[in-house]
Parts: sequence; structure tokens; C-alpha cells
Amino acid sequence: MNDVVSRPYMADDFSACLAIFDSNVPSFFAPEERAEFCQFLGSVNAEDRPYLVLVSKGSVIACGGLVTETEKRQAGLAWGMVDRAFHGQGLGTSLTQARLALARADPDIAELTLATSQHTRGFYEGFGFTVSKVTPDGFAAGLDRWDMTLRLTSA
Ligand SMILES: CC(C)(COP(=O)(O)OP(=O)(O)OC[C@H]1O[C@@H](n2cnc3c(N)ncnc32)[C@H](O)[C@@H]1OP(=O)(O)O)[C@@H](O)C(=O)NCCC(=O)NCCS
Repeated sequence: MNDVVSRPYMADDFSACLAIFDSNVPSFFAPEERAEFCQFLGSVNAEDRPYLVLVSKGSVIACGGLVTETEKRQAGLAWGMVDRAFHGQGLGTSLTQARLALARADPDIAELTLATSQHTRGFYEGFGFTVSKVTPDGFAAGLDRWDMTLRLTSA
């Protein structure tokens, strides 16, 4: 898709981001994670947690952010998702690259972390993330938790 722009999340994007979450239930997210995502959206765009949306033709179709922990020299990829109707069109790649660029721009961040499921760990392996821990049913019954990390290089 070539008409997609990235911008910081705004409070008016709340419903659109929840709709993106809902489009990915139950294959990628468990319904019980919804409340946690709502709470997270209420906290984003503080200095330590930038959150981005991808917009096409006036609609928000993907979202995702970072939670930085500079005392640990780490940032976590947080709540990254593409509307189910738009999977497989390169948006997840754009979203991940935008978040990697944000992290790389911060000299206090040396490592990225994320927690994802067995269904998307292959996607993040494509960016060089490696698994540090697997927790069966870690998110919900049938939805395992894969903790992954990526050391950042200065390149
Ligand atoms: C994971 C996700 C972001 C991928 O987004 P996407 O827009 O479909 O991915 P892209 O079109 O950019 O795919 C890029 C490449 O990754 C591959 N890929 C996409 N999804 C994949 C997956 N789930 N597992 C393994 N590889 C995957 C594609 O085949 C493509 O490979 P190619 O370049 O060789 O053709 C999307 O599936 C999603 O939003 N899932 C629901 C939310 C979620 O589970 N997020 C996890 C973190 S909380």
C-alpha cells in the first residue's frame, strides 16, 4: 500500500484502535486482553511510551508503540497490530520498521524486547528477534507467550 502515513496516536483514535484489536480476536488476541489494551491506550504518548498509528484514506488501519525503560537500556514493542482485513500487505513491516527507527534514535536503548504469540513469533524472527522464553498458554488457553529480544546495533 503506498498511501499509508504514520503519525502519533491521538485520543480520537481510541475506537479505531480497539476495532483493530477486535478484528484480531480470537486468532491473535484473547478477548480477555481487551481491557488491558484499553488501559494501555489511556497511558500512551508519555515520553517513555510513544504510540503510532498508520492511516490510509483517512482510516486508522494499524497501530503499535514502544515502552522504554532507559534504566535497563531497553524498550519493549507494545501492542502492535494491523487490521485483520489488511494483513499481508506490508503494513506490519512498516509499523515494525517505524518502531525500530524510534528505538534506534534513542542512544539510551541497547535492546528491544517483545512478548508475542506462537502465531506471530515467525514475523518478528524476520527482523532478527530471538526467543528468550516460551510460556505455554501464557496469554490465554491455546495462546502461548513468546518473549523475544533484539540487540540494537548502531547501523
Ligand atoms: C504480525 C502482524 C503485525 C504482521 O503484519 P502484516 O501486515 O500481515 O505483515 P507483512 O505484510 O508486513 O509481512 C511481512 C512478512 O512477514 C511474513 N509474516 C506475516 N505475518 C506472519 C506471521 N504471523 N508469521 C510469520 N511470518 C509472517 C509475511 O509472509 C511477509 O513475508 P515476505 O516478506 O517473505 O513476504 C499481523 O499479523 C498482526 O497484526 N497480527 C495481530 C496482532 C499481533 O498478534 N501482534 C503481535 C504483537 S502484540
